[in-house]
Amino acid sequence: MTQLKNKHFVLGLTGGIACYKVAELCRALIKEGATVQVVMSEGATQFITPVTMQALSGRPVFISQWDSRESNNMAHINLSREAHAILIAPASAEFVAKLLHGRADDLLSLMCLARPIDQVPLIVAPAMNREMWSNPATQRNIEQLKADGAYVLDVGAGDQACGEIGDGRMLESHEIVEALKAHFTQKVLKGRRVLITAGPTYEAIDPVRGITNLSSGKMGFALARACKRAGAVVTLISGPVSLPTPDGVERLSVVSAQQMYDHTLSKMHSADVFIATAAVADWRVSAVVEQKIKKSAENSAPRFDLIENPDILKAVASSPRALSGELYCVGFAAESENLEKLATAKRIAKGVPLLVANLGPQTFGLDENALLLVNEHGTRQLPWASKEDLSAELVKEIASKLAN
Ligand code: C5P
Repeated sequence: MTQLKNKHFVLGLTGGIACYKVAELCRALIKEGATVQVVMSEGATQFITPVTMQALSGRPVFISQWDSRESNNMAHINLSREAHAILIAPASAEFVAKLLHGRADDLLSLMCLARPIDQVPLIVAPAMNREMWSNPATQRNIEQLKADGAYVLDVGAGDQACGEIGDGRMLESHEIVEALKAHFTQKVLKGRRVLITAGPTYEAIDPVRGITNLSSGKMGFALARACKRAGAVVTLISGPVSLPTPDGVERLSVVSAQQMYDHTLSKMHSADVFIATAAVADWRVSAVVEQKIKKSAENSAPRFDLIENPDILKAVASSPRALSGELYCVGFAAESENLEKLATAKRIAKGVPLLVANLGPQTFGLDENALLLVNEHGTRQLPWASKEDLSAELVKEIASKLAN
């Protein structure tokens, strides 16, 4: 939640059906702790009313450069001077063309041209019909806009309002929010390759039953997002969870501990950092029963032989690259008591420089957690906060160790 807190955005809407998504985007930004000043082109007001945008942003909307509410009558100057960024969403093909020619025939284009170019980034979320998007004129304009220093977001692909299918949809509001968060995150892991395990594993007993645990994967997924925002190339190896893949992250989905082990070992050679957040099942049954085990009056409850799963973290931490310091390993410990004592012992047992301990039953499934960081010098408590904020803090800790 920290990246956009107290950030002030000028949200510029231009004419396009994607305006309907911007109501949601405006709410999402405010929920993140940002403030939003809406500016609309005349075209945008054909698609969504200023009343709606005023109600959602909590501020009067500006449309005209002749708006006399500003005491000096210079809305085009005043509005951008207090902004951390101008976000044009949706950016129509016409508005993109206008921007790159430096045209200034309405308040929004005038304000973009008059912004202090080194202090107020211009972020553009294009939205248009697929033919308009792929037209060489538009593509040329987009390239020039990027070359002029604007941050142009990708477009989505899929069904379009016109009934056609293809590229040109405006990104969804959660994707735009994620792009903004990444934009405002220091790139402390730039160029680093991070490998993360997350979620539970599932060890089959028969085709319908298995051994698993209460891990939701939320901590590992939040960490993957935080690493990505900080500039890392992230691979996330996840057990069975129902979470969306973080934007820009490579995800490998696995079921069992053995599969997680195999994938991790095949990926670890190219990683600079390994973070083991997964709650890997310690044991599996020695032989999976092929058909569903039936209960009957004569049969007593079945008994299973359990065998230990390979310890993924230990295997990675004892590899030559980890031992030489080329691969920085971070372990997690989900305990139910005695956090400091157990975590200190676990860090040594696993052979990792950093171990992150948490009280599993207090946090499983939640968006919040509290972490105890344990390294060779001692411990540091990160108090109860969102997993998103804790991840950002943990990323800084890891980055500082890599820098040393
Ligand atoms: O031994 P324990 O399961 O408590 O250790 C927790 C840490 O070890 C976590 O980082 C977890 O991802 C990792 N681990 C692992 N493979 C296992 C068991 C745990 O990577 N088989």
